[in-house]
Amino acid sequence: MHPRRAPTECLGCGHTIETREGTAAVTQKCPFSYTPPMPERRPAGTGTISLLKRMRRDFLSIWADSDFRDRVMTTWILRRKVVIANSPDAVREVMVTGNANFERKSPQMRRALEYLLGDGLFISDGETWKQRRPIVSKVVQRQHLRAFSAIMVDSASAMADGWQLLEAPRRVDMLGEMAALTADIIGKCVFGRGVSREDAREIIEGFTTYQEHIDQTNLGYFFGWDEGWPVRKNKAVRRAAERVRKVVDRLIDDLGTPRADGASMLALMATGDGDASAAMNREALINEAATIFMAGHETTAATLTWAWFLLSEAGWAEEKLHEELARVLGGRPPTFDDVASLTYTKAIIQETLRLYPPVPILARQVKETRPVHREPAKKGGLALVCPWLLHRHEIYWEAPNAFQPERFLSGPPPTNVYVPFAVGPRICPGAQFGLTEAILCLATLAQRFRPTLAPGHVVEPQCRLTLRPKGGLPMLLNVRDAA
Ligand code: HEM
Repeated sequence: MHPRRAPTECLGCGHTIETREGTAAVTQKCPFSYTPPMPERRPAGTGTISLLKRMRRDFLSIWADSDFRDRVMTTWILRRKVVIANSPDAVREVMVTGNANFERKSPQMRRALEYLLGDGLFISDGETWKQRRPIVSKVVQRQHLRAFSAIMVDSASAMADGWQLLEAPRRVDMLGEMAALTADIIGKCVFGRGVSREDAREIIEGFTTYQEHIDQTNLGYFFGWDEGWPVRKNKAVRRAAERVRKVVDRLIDDLGTPRADGASMLALMATGDGDASAAMNREALINEAATIFMAGHETTAATLTWAWFLLSEAGWAEEKLHEELARVLGGRPPTFDDVASLTYTKAIIQETLRLYPPVPILARQVKETRPVHREPAKKGGLALVCPWLLHRHEIYWEAPNAFQPERFLSGPPPTNVYVPFAVGPRICPGAQFGLTEAILCLATLAQRFRPTLAPGHVVEPQCRLTLRPKGGLPMLLNVRDAA
């Protein structure tokens, strides 16, 4: 179908402009504000079967206009009640004060990832989570970040060198490029700088294939099985999980070999990072290494990909970025110490995470019936916190759908509304790592290249395990003047 163009009000600033409709995404272009693509909203009165079909296709297409205004919503999907916490108070009740009742991940998430991650932190709860969380947090958090930052800049610089060698017009799939970059970085941080290309490729391909073949809907849960149905472990899923776990298992054998390349997260977890009582056994090490690799690679890749897209469409923001990079770095590669001065670069990343949160839905299985903002969340049902809704909520944001990095320069974002890393005890332990990585990679690459969207390509957001541009993001890499 050809897109239809119609005069409408800009969702960003209210000016009358043309809106392109008729594709799965709505796109607006206004000279005063940029409103990037978002999925069409669900028509009022959609039945359960159509809703399930929409969920299977894309979790972001299930929301109606009113969901971006309401503070708490409820719905039944077959035999399950779903409560959606959509205000700061409701989010606090689920994720912070009520965490003990809502800590368990949804059966969809647990079942989809269990073959790959075992009882890894992302999907564990109870005692296992309590024991492992401190050590995993410690190895990915601040104290090792300076050393890991050097890996981030080296990897991004090597990617820029590779881009330089491409033949003009240097057409790339930016999603693939950013996935390779962040996988290289997290691979070296988790397994050590010495991890071989073959092992890295084996792990990356294993993860990609696994995600392509896994089903996240789990109808069994909605029909009444509290634990959901085991996901059909077809040949592709089994082989993909085996590929990853086999390489990690072998890399653990290498840990005894002294290395000159500094501490890897794997080595730190194996020894308890200075606390022998926190040291992990082999099975736990495999599960947590796979978890960190998965949690820390996809999310940052999606963030960087969306940032490149937004910059290519909002020329004014790209100019401000280049101005800041020239002023702070003067053409040299960034370091960990520069991150604090790259305030506009950081605002671009924060605004990207607001508009396109890599984890747009956080789903928890309710332990005991309990109210969320006076609405009973039923035992066994689901409580959802959706960054996708909260980040575009009409009560808490001005021009919620517009790309405006400046909004992050004037103070902290609203508490329990801006939640790209979740909140409460299960907040992402890699938040600082991910932010630093995105800032350093953007700063390194944007000094040398100005990527533009491939002519004629229409971008559509799609949520599988993470929120990405459907089918990738073809871009042309324009080399920036040395001056
Ligand atoms: C921009 C990048 C990132 C984003 C947006 C992000 C987002 C999130 C979110 C929303 C959660 C909570 C999920 C839930 O409660 O259902 C989470 C958990 C987690 N993330 Fe991240 N993450 C990012 C980067 C990283 C990095 C770089 C690492 C590791 C180096 C990491 C490791 C983890 C782990 C281990 C968990 C599970 C924590 C737990 O359940 O206790 N993440 N992340």
